[in-house]
Amino acid sequence: MLKVLFVCLGNICRSPMAEAIFLDYLKKLKLTNGFEVASAGTANYHIGKEPDRRTLKVLKNKQINFYHKGQQVQLQHFYEYDIMFAMDSENLANLERIKPEDSSCKLALVRKFDEFAFGGLDVPDPYYGGEKDFIIVYNILATCIEKLLDDYQNHGNFAGLESPKNHANNSSEHDQFTNET
Ligand code: 4NP
Repeated sequence: MLKVLFVCLGNICRSPMAEAIFLDYLKKLKLTNGFEVASAGTANYHIGKEPDRRTLKVLKNKQINFYHKGQQVQLQHFYEYDIMFAMDSENLANLERIKPEDSSCKLALVRKFDEFAFGGLDVPDPYYGGEKDFIIVYNILATCIEKLLDDYQNHGNFAGLESPKNHANNSSEHDQFTNET
């Protein structure tokens, strides 16, 4: 059983979409039993809220039914999950900063698996954009996740993932692990 957590900032746009797409692929590939999948945000803005209506609309148009309530990343998640896939480099930096030293959870950008990214490895934040930006995010995530599960089926793991160093002593300009809103 591999436990996977998708992480973005608010947990209402990108990471729930990634979770839903990943679950959809697992069903299609009959791999559901091998995984536990969830998503969370580094910020606490949308705890308990449903995904953004534009995320739900894109998923519905793809015949993907999905229910989710927003949650913030917790320290315990670093012990519960085997892998966290961050949507962008800021999410990743925040995860690296708070990852406990004795956690063996691996951290990676989800777009590491997007062969069409050409160096731009962030999944763009669509929150202040329009519906078309959510469709772009869907297409990016579907590409990454298909590749990721292809690697998994061929190699039995997510190829090329290494556990990053702990950066617990680094401070961040945007501390998103506080209870401030
Ligand atoms: P997400 O998008 O990180 O993909 O869920 C955002 C959602 C909410 C906010 C920012 C990004 N916000 O500032 O409230």
